[in-house]
Amino acid sequence: HTPDRHAIRGSYVTFCANPFTTPDALVLEEDGLIIMEHGRITQCGPYATLSPLLGDNTPLTHYPDCLISAGFIDAHVHYPQISAIASWGEQLLPWLEQYIFPTEAEFADVDVARRTARLFLSELLRNGTTTAAVYCTVHPQSVDAFFEESARLGTRMIAGKVLMDRNCPPNLQDTAQSGYDQSAALIARWHGRDRQLYAVTPRFAITSTPEQLELAGTLFQHTPGLYMQTHLAENLDEIAAVRSLFPNRSSYLDVYAKAGLDGPRAIFGHAIHMAEHDFAHCHHSGCTLAHCPTSNLFLGSGAFALFDALKPTRPVHVALGTDVGAGTSLSLLATMGEAYKVSLMAGDTRLSAAQALWLATAGAARALHLHDHIGLIAPGMEADLCVMDPAATPLMAQRSARCTSLAERLFTLMVLGDDRAIRATWANGRLVHARAETQADTAA
Ligand code: GUN
Ligand code: ZN
Repeated sequence: HTPDRHAIRGSYVTFCANPFTTPDALVLEEDGLIIMEHGRITQCGPYATLSPLLGDNTPLTHYPDCLISAGFIDAHVHYPQISAIASWGEQLLPWLEQYIFPTEAEFADVDVARRTARLFLSELLRNGTTTAAVYCTVHPQSVDAFFEESARLGTRMIAGKVLMDRNCPPNLQDTAQSGYDQSAALIARWHGRDRQLYAVTPRFAITSTPEQLELAGTLFQHTPGLYMQTHLAENLDEIAAVRSLFPNRSSYLDVYAKAGLDGPRAIFGHAIHMAEHDFAHCHHSGCTLAHCPTSNLFLGSGAFALFDALKPTRPVHVALGTDVGAGTSLSLLATMGEAYKVSLMAGDTRLSAAQALWLATAGAARALHLHDHIGLIAPGMEADLCVMDPAATPLMAQRSARCTSLAERLFTLMVLGDDRAIRATWANGRLVHARAETQADTAA
């Protein structure tokens, strides 16, 4: 019996191409088998063909009536903010002041950080999310607490210490130098350690001095494989403040670009209010934009111009972000459903279910330069999977019984689904979440 070998059987979906450029990019294996060993997928394909490879000793889990996908990827989320999700009444800047800064200040206590990191990561897994780009707080120990729990679970995570040296409460302020030194120490400790990856994390232009942005750019540009994450052009009051703080910059994005905070692995949250030259700059420099529809609706920030960002003549990398606590759900299924609605508001192109799934899996992996590791169900990929149940609730069962195509089944999942529709989650070849039995399971 080979240790650490496991197989799962069921319908699975993956991609053979980008569904924004290629029709029929989504592929379905109706009765599939996925064999995993030492955290990777070693074989996958039709059960009928591959089952002889199982031998007598490979444990097999069967998920009948489910749809298996690569694990979801959340390209923008704040773990400390789960405690402040659903805070009433404000747009971005007063919302930060009233609700978010006081919540993040609690992370001076490392026990708060540890407890919250555990809850947050277990919630991600309950939602089928196996990789996320995560903001911690300004406290370095909030990063240690997060990566320690992720390493224990075996999940692939991107995270970093928030940098803020102005325009925030004194108990949340670092300095350009202390922020640099603390980030460098965290990079040495965590970046590339098993599956953990570090992101230099200046919160946004308002809360960093030009000196802090410069030093963050130095770190980002000089460490191979490092990520950078920040917020960009989310809210009109925010944009006006950035303009008055940086009068010599030609645009909000230019503030970051001049500091060396652009390029591959730079992830910008929101990017709602963008000019054509901003998108063109992102295309040429290889930046990634995180589309955060539930957050943009919740804070009244606006509608991200997805199909403009993806314009075929100069496509920009885009992935989906939940942006909890401004986002209202950690579910990428719910986020895909909201992205569909926003696509109807923002323009004339309608997001398809296959395209939405791409933005939450293989497309996100490509946008994060992790496509050799995650985002597809294919041999050699890391074994991160989510098992979706299209009949998770009586309503979903009723609706999905009438579905006649894969696209329709996926669409009902993303419009109606959330954590209840995640039957199981596997990370690094191990079962990390199994939904409690529902009436539907019992009846089956
Ligand atoms: N801009 C700066 N900080 C934040 C944050 O925590 N959430 C959101 N949505 N926008 C921000
Ligand atoms: Zn955010």
